Amino acid sequence: MRADALLSRYGYCSRREAAAWVKRGRVTVRGVPVKSPSEKVEADEVRVDGEAVPFAHGLYVAFHKPVGCTCSHKEEGELVYDLLPEMWLARNPAVNTVGRLDKETSGLLLLTDDGRFEHAMTSPRRHVPKVYELTTEAPIPVEAVSLFASGTLVLQGEKTPCLPAELEITGECAGRLTLHEGRYHQVRRMLAAVGAPVVTLCRTEIGPVKLADLALAPGEWTEVDPRIFER
Ligand code: URA
Repeated sequence: MRADALLSRYGYCSRREAAAWVKRGRVTVRGVPVKSPSEKVEADEVRVDGEAVPFAHGLYVAFHKPVGCTCSHKEEGELVYDLLPEMWLARNPAVNTVGRLDKETSGLLLLTDDGRFEHAMTSPRRHVPKVYELTTEAPIPVEAVSLFASGTLVLQGEKTPCLPAELEITGECAGRLTLHEGRYHQVRRMLAAVGAPVVTLCRTEIGPVKLADLALAPGEWTEVDPRIFER
């Protein structure tokens, strides 16, 4: 890739500004300053101001989303993206969330600048299991366990039933629900359908990635290897 394209791809500056960065010797390959913005370089060999290019092979991050921010680039109020390093937001292709969590839901959220990964992970054919810990306003009826497992629950306004889902009742007003699909407000709508509206909701697992193993506080993130989702 050209050095100017690289600087813009990874969010350092625009392609037009890149000439000045190169001229000042800020871009080096194995210690040697790149001579021209058009010079061809490999992202994993380049250093900018002496630092390696972050996420040179694509950005794949697990983020602990706090309650109160929105998974959108343009809505009002605090956005998930306001909590991320500014340079990520200047990357092109853009960094996006892999699917969404509601504003009032916390927990594990993947972020990537790899459109194919995002697509593959959210494809309805993929069925990556996602685990949610929840509390409810009213006790969860035991019949909800078999209803959710049966694959017959049709949510209001929908034509096809939810895929079988595993519900564990972990307390009088608490549960753990594993879904294999991602419909709009699905957990909240499923629990509301059995008379136990959700009070708090936290996604704790996506496939092999567990929030507890990552030990991330709300607002913290860590890199993940996208290959772990291929198994
Ligand atoms: N289901 C919901 O209802 N909300 C979420 O944020 C995720 C799943």
